[in-house]
Amino acid sequence: MKAVVYDRYGPPDVLRLEGVERPVPGDDEVLIKVRATTVNRLDCATRDANRRSGLAIALISRIVFGIRRPRRRILGSEVAGVVEAVGGSVRQFAVGDHVFGATGLGFGAHAEFMCVRENARMAHVPTGLSFEQAAAVCDGAFNALSCLRPVHPRKGQTILIYGASGSIGTAGVQLARYFEAHVTAVCSTKNLELVKSLGADAVIDYTQEDFTKNGQTYDVIFDAVGKLSFRRCKGSLKPGGSYLATDGFRNLLLALRPWSAGGKKVRFPSSMPTKREILFIKELIEAGRYRPVIDRSYPLEQVVDATRYVETEQKTGNVVLTVSGS
Ligand SMILES: NC(=O)c1ccc[n+]([C@@H]2O[C@H](COP(=O)([O-])OP(=O)(O)OC[C@H]3O[C@@H](n4cnc5c(N)ncnc54)[C@H](OP(=O)(O)O)[C@@H]3O)[C@@H](O)[C@H]2O)c1
Repeated sequence: MKAVVYDRYGPPDVLRLEGVERPVPGDDEVLIKVRATTVNRLDCATRDANRRSGLAIALISRIVFGIRRPRRRILGSEVAGVVEAVGGSVRQFAVGDHVFGATGLGFGAHAEFMCVRENARMAHVPTGLSFEQAAAVCDGAFNALSCLRPVHPRKGQTILIYGASGSIGTAGVQLARYFEAHVTAVCSTKNLELVKSLGADAVIDYTQEDFTKNGQTYDVIFDAVGKLSFRRCKGSLKPGGSYLATDGFRNLLLALRPWSAGGKKVRFPSSMPTKREILFIKELIEAGRYRPVIDRSYPLEQVVDATRYVETEQKTGNVVLTVSGS
């Protein structure tokens, strides 16, 4: 089968298409014929051994993924496709089912076929969703859920989402809105209408207004794009408020410290989504309460171009790779 592989850490052009052996499903696994996947920030950071995230994270990245070269040659952490074969003990899925899900740090979706355990974060494609849309659900939704969970989003709570137009941001706006929080979305001019359409109660164009200087305060500030800092926005938090970080070693250290700054806390995602979360998101999609946002779609063969685009850090929502198959 065809797959996109890489054998050394580096820029997008370390990725190349290669013929590799088709995987065989184990007893509790399903073999998926991949129809769509994505290129996301996790793929990019892993391919580059987290070089841009500072020495500590870069070192951890190499310990996890391979010190000198990547142990797993195929990236891709989101998948949508058709079940081609199932292992002997699989009960939840059958040949021909349309499925989608997230493989997380296991990766492997940038290929024509991949194996996934039936208990992994995988579910049937929601009614009415294309494979491309289904592939673009999990990254944003899972990251946003993990970030939001510690503050128990609820009615009456005010949440500002910075970077509201990215993968995590577009998911965060819809989820916070679903939980009935009052959502203020911050993005650039071109994405204002989009974030309104996702349910934001108020929008701020950061090219026109600095929210940290307008005198408004919030219960929660969710930095969905890693471009803020606690120091910069803590004056815009209400007493007892929380700053939610998506990444950053500094944020991790701030989140771990036992004391808070004037009752204000930095919170870091602490739990991994499970099958329960994918079933929850599937329900939201089928109820018309959630939709994945797709910016561009490329064929698998153009993975390097797709990756370069994701690395501009300017994508709106998600970037999809379509897999036509042999
Ligand atoms: N995706 C993952 O798997 C993953 C996992 C863990 C952590 N993270 C981290 O989470 C963060 C967000 O990831 P993502 O995939 O959601 O991002 P993303 O989709 O790449 O975000 C792109 C969006 O960010 C906005 N943006 C760019 N520069 C900005 C700035 N200076 N201020 C405000 N907004 C800006 C752009 O919209 P506008 O033109 O509207 O500003 C663009 O739509 C990143 O820091 C990433 O490292 C991602």
